[in-house]
Amino acid sequence: METKLLCVGDVVGTPGRNVLREALETLVPAHGIDCVIVNAENAASGSGLTASLYKKVIASGANLLTLGDHVYRRRDIIPVLEAEENICRPANLPVAAPGKSVALYETSSGVRVAVLTVLGRLFMKPQTDCPFTAVERALSKIPPDVKIVVVEVHAEVTSEKVAMGWRFDGKVSVVFGTHTHIPTADERVLPQGTAYISDLGMTGPYDSVLGRDKHRVLSAMISGVPCSFDVAENDLRMCGILVSVDSDTGRATSVERVCYRTKEK
Ligand SMILES: [Fe+2]
Ligand SMILES: [Fe+2]
Repeated sequence: METKLLCVGDVVGTPGRNVLREALETLVPAHGIDCVIVNAENAASGSGLTASLYKKVIASGANLLTLGDHVYRRRDIIPVLEAEENICRPANLPVAAPGKSVALYETSSGVRVAVLTVLGRLFMKPQTDCPFTAVERALSKIPPDVKIVVVEVHAEVTSEKVAMGWRFDGKVSVVFGTHTHIPTADERVLPQGTAYISDLGMTGPYDSVLGRDKHRVLSAMISGVPCSFDVAENDLRMCGILVSVDSDTGRATSVERVCYRTKEK
């Protein structure tokens, strides 16, 4: 049996949530997608996730949610992180950090899917434990009957992400990168059966700098005077990958990039 996973890159603000909902309405039935994994670290006005937006993103068709360096930006997500099975915080934060290291979801066919995230260490805040060790530790806690395991590397540099792909090739179903908000063109199935891409890209407004109003970002960069960066509004896209996985072995059989553009109103 085959399980189809859709992995969706960082959802940015209201525009990102809107294009996510529209894309999932179209893509999930069209491709027979069994499980949708969404990075929601920028869903609340571009930074963090709230308890009410957690419910909205799940209602729009997401099955598993991850977060990144903005995990605790909105503190009311903390009780959700502690209570719910389908959302996780980065696995290489301090032991006392609230939330689970692994999120779990059971598809309508009864196949269980696990996802976990680690933060990179190069050019990243906060400082974290070794992501390689954190993945090993998290994998050891996943029940052995869960064959489909997805690892997200939320990191700034591609070298760290590629290295993670090689380290866990054959040990997990998918390794995908997030955080840069720029999709990469290096998707492939590695030799031992792990689907890999360095970055899924962003889900939100591409007429922007990483989802933020380009005029404000440019003004701050050029003048050196800081200002608030509003979420941009135009050229909405949902970016990610569609992965087919053998449900019995957990090995990926194919991976393709997906870029859904919102319909013109
Ligand atoms: Fe991030
Ligand atoms: Fe992000």
